[in-house]
Amino acid sequence: MTQEELKKQVGIEAVKYVKNEMIVGLGTGSTATYMINELGRRIKEENLKIIGVTTSKATSKQAQALGIPLKVIDEVEYVDLTIDGVDEISENFRGIKGGGGALLFEKIVASYSKQNIWIVDESKLVKQLGAFPLPVEVVRYGAEQLYRFFKNKRYHPRFRTTNDGKKFITDSGNYIIDLHLEIIADPIILGKELDKLVGVVEHGLFLSMVNKVIIGTKNGLKTLQNDLNA
Ligand code: 5RP
Repeated sequence: MTQEELKKQVGIEAVKYVKNEMIVGLGTGSTATYMINELGRRIKEENLKIIGVTTSKATSKQAQALGIPLKVIDEVEYVDLTIDGVDEISENFRGIKGGGGALLFEKIVASYSKQNIWIVDESKLVKQLGAFPLPVEVVRYGAEQLYRFFKNKRYHPRFRTTNDGKKFITDSGNYIIDLHLEIIADPIILGKELDKLVGVVEHGLFLSMVNKVIIGTKNGLKTLQNDLNA
């Protein structure tokens, strides 16, 4: 089974948790794309009344093409269920997100969701976070100062760039600085440090946000439950 097939499987599996009349948060990325296709199919074939709340312009475009009715996060009181991909997930259900640059809206939508499901192929499972570069979304003004700050801290920062070498701009008009840390010894302490920095809009550490993880493995699907109140 290829990685793409595993992504498709978990995307389809996650949509089984969607019930009629739900408000559903729609994640961003290649795995989420399969989930959104499946949701579009179910809405059409089962005539479901679903409202989608998207996490990026790319996801909005896909959902609109599939005819999924959309609202923005401020138009709903809460989201029933958000389904999203993740770049790296450790054994204690902590994750890094933002590989697709949508971390800010993804974190906002996840924060107002009653349930969050992450969908991953098994390559995303790690013992300790950090091999995947940690995205930090920063406002453009003063971004070089933050870059220097991260460099002095030996966080190995790199501005995210597009294929033509220009700085990547997020849906909110900000830059992303990726921190090539290799190992994040204490994600909570690092998250608090990043939260306090002026000019940092958001970072990709999603530490206590996920309720369920659906993992595609070569031996079949696995679903892990995370009790956030434990
Ligand atoms: C986008 C994200 C994605 O969910 C994450 O990058 C996983 O993407 P993919 O499913 O393509 O591996 O956080 O900002």
